[in-house]
Amino acid sequence: MKEIKPLIFDYNNMMKDFLGEEGFSDKELKDNFPKAQIAHKFFEENRGKNMLGWTELPYNQKSIIKNIKEVAKKARKADAFVVLGIGGSALGANALFNSLCHLHHNELKKSKRKAPKFYVEDNIDPVRMKELLDILNLEKTIFNVISKSGSTSETMSQFLIIYKILKEKYGENAKNHIIATTDEKNGNLIKIAKEESLTTFFIPDGVGGRFSVISPVGLLPAAILGIDINQLLKGCIYMDKMCRKNNSKNPALVLGLLQYLAMKKGKNISVMMPYSDNLKLVADWYSQLWAESLGKKVDLNNNIVHTGQTPVRALGATDQHSQIQLFTEGPFDKVITLIGVKNFKETVEIPHIFPQYPAVSFLSGYSLNDLITNERIATEYALTKNKRLNHSIILNEINAHTIGQLLMFFMIQTAYVGAMLNVDTFNQPGVEEGKNATYALFGRSGYEEKLTELKTTKPKNDKYII
Ligand code: PA5
Repeated sequence: MKEIKPLIFDYNNMMKDFLGEEGFSDKELKDNFPKAQIAHKFFEENRGKNMLGWTELPYNQKSIIKNIKEVAKKARKADAFVVLGIGGSALGANALFNSLCHLHHNELKKSKRKAPKFYVEDNIDPVRMKELLDILNLEKTIFNVISKSGSTSETMSQFLIIYKILKEKYGENAKNHIIATTDEKNGNLIKIAKEESLTTFFIPDGVGGRFSVISPVGLLPAAILGIDINQLLKGCIYMDKMCRKNNSKNPALVLGLLQYLAMKKGKNISVMMPYSDNLKLVADWYSQLWAESLGKKVDLNNNIVHTGQTPVRALGATDQHSQIQLFTEGPFDKVITLIGVKNFKETVEIPHIFPQYPAVSFLSGYSLNDLITNERIATEYALTKNKRLNHSIILNEINAHTIGQLLMFFMIQTAYVGAMLNVDTFNQPGVEEGKNATYALFGRSGYEEKLTELKTTKPKNDKYII
């Protein structure tokens, strides 16, 4: 068996020793550690309860995994597998796909890909829908409609469009092209799924959208793609165990505290910058997790707090040529998370040609692996020299286990920070506001009051329209 290596969390560059006044002292960390420990205690005492149901998903899905694998075995024969979902019902599957599949999965021959082509349709742009339909062979396509609430306008409208087409084409057999993932008891999707006898998976109680990647929401697409979901969950367990410690050896707790203290000092932006294309969509997933969980108007005592840190996604080395200038010399309002990979699954050598041009040939004999690693180290150096709060997370390699560790790390860290901020980490009233306004604009029954409210908003002034 391959040796399991934990992710490494290096927070040197968050400290005074390296950043001077911009950094934190050991004393500051020590003095504030009780705050982190209260958050940790709350987390441990409530794991598995209320909206912390997701903490137990790595442990309690044995029969569900069996079911997922059975369904996946059949679905893998399809030409295409399409997720219809948005937000937490899309980002996790996309992150798993991006991190653990070939970066050009859909362009590979089926014999090499060994799984269906994969699409995550997380928007309602009519052009995107039409053009997706242009390329799909519906006869060999399976759609996974994912919605916990079973009422999200974007997802349900996509489902209605697709299901009508399937019904017209295949009549009774339309149901064989759809898998529904939703709440077991609430919402309309479960009702439709029952009426239409759709294959169905449930999003358990206590698992909100942005914490659902290790439920059937992410696991079914992952299994269909051939990802080792057992290893993924083992990685989650590995990290969960590391996070049982209520001391400075718990990486999610230390980073959580540092982020909390940084927020208190006005660092309102959290930059996530992996140096790996495979982790690009993990940064997207993190953005939702961080933004929706911590961006809150009120705290648990109903005080107006307006908390949160705006997540910014960047990709190393690509964004060294766009955003790094701002990160290095712009306002002191950011905490930058660099993610590195020690051993990439591929090695690409840079060849020896044009020795007559030293400014080019200095790269010869090295590999792209050396280059991307040194660029990450160089960025870390430049940020630190300019007194920018930054830290690094290093994965030994990218595999299902390390990705499980990473996802669990961020989910647990988010829960800790929410507890430190004393906000409801698991609600999203700001999202609901927009969802409800959309329902009202479409005249959905039960939203009459919201429509009246919308109609009484101040009309726009032409003076400000050019
Ligand atoms: O994290 C969340 O709760 C949201 O982003 C939801 O996942 C998103 O709004 C989609 O909701 P649903 O799964 O109910 O369709």
